[in-house]
Amino acid sequence: MITRKSKREIEKMQVAGDLLVKTHKEIAKMIKPGITTMEIDAFVEDFLTKNGAIPEQKGYNGYQYATCASINDEICHGFPRDEKLKDGDIVTIDMVVNVDGGLADSAWTYAVGNVDEKGKHLMDVTKESLYKGIEQAQVGKRIGDIGHAIQTFAEAEGFSVVRDFTGHGIGPSLHEDPHIPHFGLPNKGLRLKEGMVITIEPMINEGDWRSEMDSNGWTARTVDKGRSAQYEHTIVITKDGPLVITEQEEN
Ligand code: MF3
Ligand code: CO
Repeated sequence: MITRKSKREIEKMQVAGDLLVKTHKEIAKMIKPGITTMEIDAFVEDFLTKNGAIPEQKGYNGYQYATCASINDEICHGFPRDEKLKDGDIVTIDMVVNVDGGLADSAWTYAVGNVDEKGKHLMDVTKESLYKGIEQAQVGKRIGDIGHAIQTFAEAEGFSVVRDFTGHGIGPSLHEDPHIPHFGLPNKGLRLKEGMVITIEPMINEGDWRSEMDSNGWTARTVDKGRSAQYEHTIVITKDGPLVITEQEEN
């Protein structure tokens, strides 16, 4: 079901968004060669709990961790683990914060130590593609406008867009309708309305877009073993334009 949120619901989601931003800023300080994604996951669970929040991903459809941690060729839903991050890795940390029923969802790709030029370019283009999508998140625009903006930008830079995972509506539960593909045709699909809250979360690959599922049934990785980056925000469609409740930059 597609819901439109009240002012009060949006305020609650913003509280969750603020805490999620703080959590990402702490993670940014922790990411170094030698740290494990299990240590980051433990930090996140503890930090959220201490701040009165619930790590919404834990227990969601049987998922066991507070975060998803996807390294290099892992596209999404990587499991946190005891393997040390290495200089030159890229790692995407994705999490959903629940404060008193208000949800926010945001993923960010981090560079571990010194990442090569192509990897940095992949990260930059992926982040910029997210903002190209956000520009389209306006009352009266259509879902295809978002995907088209992302796809056009990322492909012009020589990268490819993952097809098998999309953004989504969010609240009252983590995954609500509609799906928000990161590819598509302009002026196609559902029209966006005031009060809708969605995630935009492009997964962009340095090589081919195709993905395959690990035997754990969760983790998707690139078929060609190229790297994949992802940035995700939770966005409210307002009459004044997109409101990014997980924005990390000071405005
Ligand atoms: N944050 C992820 C998303 O954007 C949620 C992953 S589902 C989980 O869809 F079960 F892994 F938590
Ligand atoms: Co999401």
